[in-house]
Amino acid sequence: MSFISTSAPGKCILFGEHAVVYGHPAVAVAIDQRISVKIQPSQTGMWLLDGSALNMKRNPHIKGLIDKLWPASEGAPPLSIHIEGNIPRASGLGSSAALSVAFAGALRLARGRWVETSDATIQQQWAEGFGANVSTTNAYDNQRGFFSIKPTSELFHIKGEKAVDADENAILAHSVEAAAQNGRASPMDSSTCSHGEVIIISDQIEDDIDYLYRRDLKMPEGERFWHIHELNLDKKPDDVYLVIGSTGISAPTSKQVAKVANMLQKNPSRIEEIETIGKIARRGIEALRNGDYEAVGRTMSENQIMLKSIGVSSPELDNLIKAAAPTSLGAKLTGAGGGGCMVALTKNPKLTSDAIELAGGRTLISKLGSPGMKIDSVENITIWTIN
Ligand code: MEV
Repeated sequence: MSFISTSAPGKCILFGEHAVVYGHPAVAVAIDQRISVKIQPSQTGMWLLDGSALNMKRNPHIKGLIDKLWPASEGAPPLSIHIEGNIPRASGLGSSAALSVAFAGALRLARGRWVETSDATIQQQWAEGFGANVSTTNAYDNQRGFFSIKPTSELFHIKGEKAVDADENAILAHSVEAAAQNGRASPMDSSTCSHGEVIIISDQIEDDIDYLYRRDLKMPEGERFWHIHELNLDKKPDDVYLVIGSTGISAPTSKQVAKVANMLQKNPSRIEEIETIGKIARRGIEALRNGDYEAVGRTMSENQIMLKSIGVSSPELDNLIKAAAPTSLGAKLTGAGGGGCMVALTKNPKLTSDAIELAGGRTLISKLGSPGMKIDSVENITIWTIN
């Protein structure tokens, strides 16, 4: 029996949520909490999710990825999907991006990749696939995102880890997130959950930070682009933790993103507040690069003032942030807000966690940065391929 298990981490935004949708800088870290996806051929002739019929309407991320990587029209067989993990859903911790990244990676593993030379793992030599440098297939085109190749004797089929690519998993996850968020999504969640560790998004290419790629997206408000970088924390702190406090209130990202869009439509001058968040994020990036965690914490708290001002905080979030303040370096909401989670940067994780729980929140503790998408276990790897 074939099966494939992959996993991807959740993410926590330290600076710049919402403003990043409008092209401003932002920073997110992958957290220790993960989502695992196991796929295997379905024995029932229909798609299954955790043992029941898969409802495609209720699972738009999964459906979007099936359409792009596993098209029934090309003969791809139905699968049974099993999902587990410890990232709370709809809480701003990237659960849908982590799921999308892990599922995209699992599907790619299950079909391998056709390439132009036998050792080609770089995008320029792919005969099929999606990525920042791939011009043959547009991951964001929901009508024609998939193209089928006719394998010839000049092409090679590669399998296993070599066929999987973090850029491809991230671009596919971004495209299905954007579709689920009415066309408005930054690549923050998808890139962080795919690559792991610390991701910096900017409106410019930053000196001295490893550059990954550029993403472009046509949103209802116009074209946006982002430069995505991976920050290597040389001075990764072993005494600084993130304590994430959940309000327990589910707050869909699409609603929160639309709320900000409506605010700007009614009052275009409020774009200044979005720009201020961008400036704060830039200061936060500098503090992180300098390993100055006192400044990182202060900047997070400043970011919260602006998030409150644009109306994406909530009384429950404010309450948990207030409770965390005395024992932490800084605290703010993380993700889309309106409910969901807050995050505190702290050297006293136990004290901060107790204070948040006493105020009614449920906590998770994480280091700053965690590995990206992983292949956890595999048996009889190829489930289907075009041939
Ligand atoms: C959600 O985790 C972060 C937002 O900035 C939306 C996005 O970046 O797509 C609110």
